[in-house]
Amino acid sequence: MIGFSEGFHDSAVACVRDGYIVFATHGERISRQKHDKRLPLEAAAIAQASNLTDNVISFYERPLKKKIRQYFAGQKAWRQPRDLCMKPTHYCEHHMSHAAAAFQTSVFEEAACVVVDSIGEFDCSSIWTAKMVNGKAEYKKVWNMEYPKSIGLWYSALTKWAGLKPLDEEYIFMGMAAYGKPTHVDEVHALLDKNNHRGIKDLHGAPHDIAKSAEVILEYELMNIFNIAKTYSNNICYGGGVALNCVINTKLREMCNLWIMPNPGDAGGALGAALIPYGKKVQFTPYLGYNIKRPIDPNEIVAKLLSEGIVGVASGRAEFGPRALGNRSLLADPRKISTKSHVNSIKRRQKFRPFAPAILEEYANDYFEMPSHSRYMQYVYQCKRPHDIPAVLHVDNTARVQTVPETSESILREILEVWYEHTGCPVLLNTSLNVRGKPMVNDICDALNFSAKYHIDVY
Ligand SMILES: [Fe+2]
Repeated sequence: MIGFSEGFHDSAVACVRDGYIVFATHGERISRQKHDKRLPLEAAAIAQASNLTDNVISFYERPLKKKIRQYFAGQKAWRQPRDLCMKPTHYCEHHMSHAAAAFQTSVFEEAACVVVDSIGEFDCSSIWTAKMVNGKAEYKKVWNMEYPKSIGLWYSALTKWAGLKPLDEEYIFMGMAAYGKPTHVDEVHALLDKNNHRGIKDLHGAPHDIAKSAEVILEYELMNIFNIAKTYSNNICYGGGVALNCVINTKLREMCNLWIMPNPGDAGGALGAALIPYGKKVQFTPYLGYNIKRPIDPNEIVAKLLSEGIVGVASGRAEFGPRALGNRSLLADPRKISTKSHVNSIKRRQKFRPFAPAILEEYANDYFEMPSHSRYMQYVYQCKRPHDIPAVLHVDNTARVQTVPETSESILREILEVWYEHTGCPVLLNTSLNVRGKPMVNDICDALNFSAKYHIDVY
């Protein structure tokens, strides 16, 4: 089965077969256009070559239903012709694609699925019950919040108000909250009841304080939705672009047994579209994209880290999702605070932006106040030893932790083991192998270009 998403932002394609996701990629990784809404033909061709069992091509939303909403909302987009890369045989409801991407990659036999994004056809938030019946997933929508009230649109409009790019830089707005105070909570909350599709004008305050106020409201609204979902099940599968907010995710994780598929936005909807007609559960791994097959020596990488303090890794299958988890990563020494500004200048990012730590999973509790694991950088935790790893901490001494288990498929595990042997530190700074505004490195040509342009060795 093939599923794909395109036409809005972040196109993607996924292929599932025999209980596995055999291939999945974002369109941008191949076209090299950040957030490319068009799915490149090459991505579709690789997915079709991976699909040996049927002719099912499933699209992640219902275009006609979406056009009806756009028409009644007065959006010009309803006039634009639909031009898809492949001809679908199936169409899925947008929020059901998010729900299926979450539930059918989870370990649960039954769950409540919570979906929160900007907008699908009409739904902007929804709750679904999901269960496996005779080996097939069954879904039922039990609650929804319809356009124009949208938590995702509201958060994107605030991101734009702060001078950042909506549908792209929400994570920067999230990071700004750590510097602010919740001084505008009522004002920011009142905006949620308005139609924020055309932006926010009448709001005055310091962007950091608005970001903190938005964080308070987001937590309140999501906790309310999760409390409704918990009346159906304590196992919650959470999807939609709002599930990328790792600060709030951490609070939600304390409320229930939580699973967030590490690509919960619309690109991940491509996987959900494939999983709905497939019906069964699949084994999940984030390493699903283009494969760079080449021998790589962790000793050589650690030697480079010890001499230069920074090194690139482009090896194995590319991550499906917004985070680099070791196969398309820029790794650096977390023990020196100067590493942070050095990596930020290479990546051309704002100076206040934090980096994430990758840590040998068995040492996670020595360094962070956290549960036993957090393998996909989806949650933030307080550091117990901030003086030991200052380059990977935010201003409030929290970090978006990636724990790397012995079972990891990524070369990152071996690199961390060798690094620990040499330094006694089980942590490395791990950030994506790209620069601001560009997609992550995908193939060997991209890796060589990155190396030549930024004078960093990439293995
Ligand atoms: Fe969505």
